Amino acid sequence: MSQLKVGIIGTGWCGGIRAVASSRSALVAEVHIAETDADRRQEVATLTSAATATADWTELVDHPGIDAIMVSATPEDLHHPMAKAALTAGKHVLLEKPIALTLDEADELIGIADDGGLKFTIGYSQRFNAKQAMVKRAITDGTLGEVSSILVSRHITRSLGAKISSRTKLSPAAMEATHDLDFAFWCLEPRRPVRVYSQNAWGAREATLGVPDTQYLVVTMDDGTVVSVGAGMSLPPGYPNQSSTWIEVLGTEGAVLVDASHRDVVLNTVQNGVQFPLSTMPGEYVDHVYAGPMERETVHFLEAVAYDRPVLVDPHLARVVMEVYVAADLSAELNEVVSLPLTPDQIGLAMAGLYVNRS
Ligand SMILES: NC(=O)c1ccc[n+]([C@@H]2O[C@H](COP(=O)([O-])OP(=O)(O)OC[C@H]3O[C@@H](n4cnc5c(N)ncnc54)[C@H](O)[C@@H]3O)[C@@H](O)[C@H]2O)c1
Repeated sequence: MSQLKVGIIGTGWCGGIRAVASSRSALVAEVHIAETDADRRQEVATLTSAATATADWTELVDHPGIDAIMVSATPEDLHHPMAKAALTAGKHVLLEKPIALTLDEADELIGIADDGGLKFTIGYSQRFNAKQAMVKRAITDGTLGEVSSILVSRHITRSLGAKISSRTKLSPAAMEATHDLDFAFWCLEPRRPVRVYSQNAWGAREATLGVPDTQYLVVTMDDGTVVSVGAGMSLPPGYPNQSSTWIEVLGTEGAVLVDASHRDVVLNTVQNGVQFPLSTMPGEYVDHVYAGPMERETVHFLEAVAYDRPVLVDPHLARVVMEVYVAADLSAELNEVVSLPLTPDQIGLAMAGLYVNRS
């Protein structure tokens, strides 16, 4: 195996983690970064001893020596053109969620990757948490018997919610519940979703950002299994630092209840009061240790490329997830149950109202 040359486009929060993780991996010979913010570009270039650092992402795509590209730029409408250009240039791609803004764009990316025999995966980092991995194993090895329902309740703080919603008006389903739909559908494979009902709960964020606080989804699978996800973006600052998650999986032979609310480490300072560190969704470096899923996810992608192994997150399932959250947004808009697969008319209607509106 020869070492990889890796490009990261957009080295903000997540891209910065991916660039540092790549630079620390023995699988990687060179890190190349593209970042439009000059200060951040310099900071990450220094942290990673980057071989090149540019403001123009097309230089990474055109670089003949780069094997793999991670697309971590925002806003989210950059994901499709960047990933498309990278895949078309024959690069393996890790793309942060969302896979695209429209189902046609998602299909196009998957088609290019499939035709080119390229690794293409979506940053559903939550699969790389130990707690989620344990749930998956308890389902797959039969410990829980036949699973009848999965519930995931996820809330992030309103400061992080404001960062997201000020750059895109994509719904909580598209931006947050997407992780948990992916997780539930992965656990329940080969079952497929057939029906969705969703409602938005409007609260503190309506006046400031014009978006809902929380979106609730109930998804029925083809064997009757029920997946329920609540995704909120309005926790006040006193709550766990960035994210708080609760998971319940019920089966015929057992149940697994997971508290991922990150209240196990309490930091209390005179200046800031109680804080719950180590609770960001992607995780963070704590000196020599990484706390959270994103470093492992990044290395997994590098290993998949270097050793020609399959990626854990199949983009075809990401496409299923996308159809469900698009259907959920339509359901919330129409106040109706929406059946899957979506018809071309429904897709047109959903895409016309792509960004979440008060109905
Ligand atoms: N898996 C997870 O847990 C997780 C967590 C947070 C965000 N995300 C996803 O990751 C993506 C990145 O989120 P983030 O919070 O890191 O965003 P961010 O805003 O912190 O970083 C994005 C970076 O892209 C840069 N950028 C913008 N336009 C660019 C361009 N044309 N060329 C190069 N760089 C450009 C920005 O300057 C910024 O530094 C989002 O799409 C989000 O959905 C995933």
